[in-house]
Amino acid sequence: MHTPSTLITSRPLDEYCGLFGLTRAALAALPGPVLDCPGGAAGLTAEARELGVTVIATDPAYAAPLPELTALARAGRDSMATHLAAAPDRYLPSRHLRPERYLRSWDRARRLFAADSAARPERYVAAALPRLPFADGSFALTLSAYLLFAYPELFPPERQLAGLLELVRVTAPGGEVRVYPLHDGASRPCPHLPRLRSGLGERQVSSELVRFARPGDGRTRRVLVLRRAGR
Ligand SMILES: C[S@@+](CC[C@H](N)C(=O)[O-])C[C@H]1O[C@@H](n2cnc3c(N)ncnc32)[C@H](O)[C@@H]1O
Repeated sequence: MHTPSTLITSRPLDEYCGLFGLTRAALAALPGPVLDCPGGAAGLTAEARELGVTVIATDPAYAAPLPELTALARAGRDSMATHLAAAPDRYLPSRHLRPERYLRSWDRARRLFAADSAARPERYVAAALPRLPFADGSFALTLSAYLLFAYPELFPPERQLAGLLELVRVTAPGGEVRVYPLHDGASRPCPHLPRLRSGLGERQVSSELVRFARPGDGRTRRVLVLRRAGR
C-alpha cells in the first residue's frame, strides 16, 4: 500500500484555469504539450485531451496500482469536505461556489482521471521532483499546483529551489512555469521567497509574481511565473 506524504487531490481543468490565470482557448493555442507536476488525480490531462491539448501528468503516486490511487483520491476528497465544513471561505476557489458543487467537480475529475489513466497510461508518468524523466525543453507550459510551497516539510528551501529549476529545465525556451500556491497549508506565505527568487536569478531564471483574478468574485491570487532569462 502506497502511503502518501500529501493529500492526493483531484482538481478539474476549470479549477486549474482559475488557479493559473488560463482559459481553455489559451491552452488550445499553446505550441506544444503541457506538464502537470504534480498531477495527483486531477482531471486536467483527460479534459485537455478533448480540447486537442496534450497534457502529461507526473506524480510519484502513479507508481501505485490504479484502484489504490483512486481510493487515496477519494480520501483526499473526503478530507477536503471536512476542511470545507470548517472553513469554506479558505478552501473554496470562489466565494460564490457552494461546497457541494465544488466537491462534485472533484468527483467528476477523479472519475475522468481514473478512466483516462487506465486508457492512456503513457500520459501519467511516475516520477518525483526534484528529478523528472523528461528531456530539456519538452513542454510549452508547466503547471505546478499545491506542492512546492504547500508542503514545506517535504520541500525545505534547497529542495524547493532544485524543484523549481527542474520544472524550468523541462520547459521549452519561450515557455513558462506557473506555480501556485505560494503559501503553506495554514495560509502562511513562504518566508524565504525573495531568497529563492534571487537563487533562481543567479541561475538565469527570471521570476515574476503575477496577480490573476479569481473567476467570479473579484479577488486575486498570486502565481509565481518562471522563464529562462533572456527570452
Ligand atoms: C495536493 S496534491 C496536488 C495534485 C494536483 N496538482 C491538484 O492540484 O489537484 C499533491 C501531489 O503531490 C504529489 N507529490 C508528493 N511528492 C512529490 C514530489 N516529490 N514530486 C512530485 N509530486 C509529488 C503527491 O503524490 C500528490 O498527488
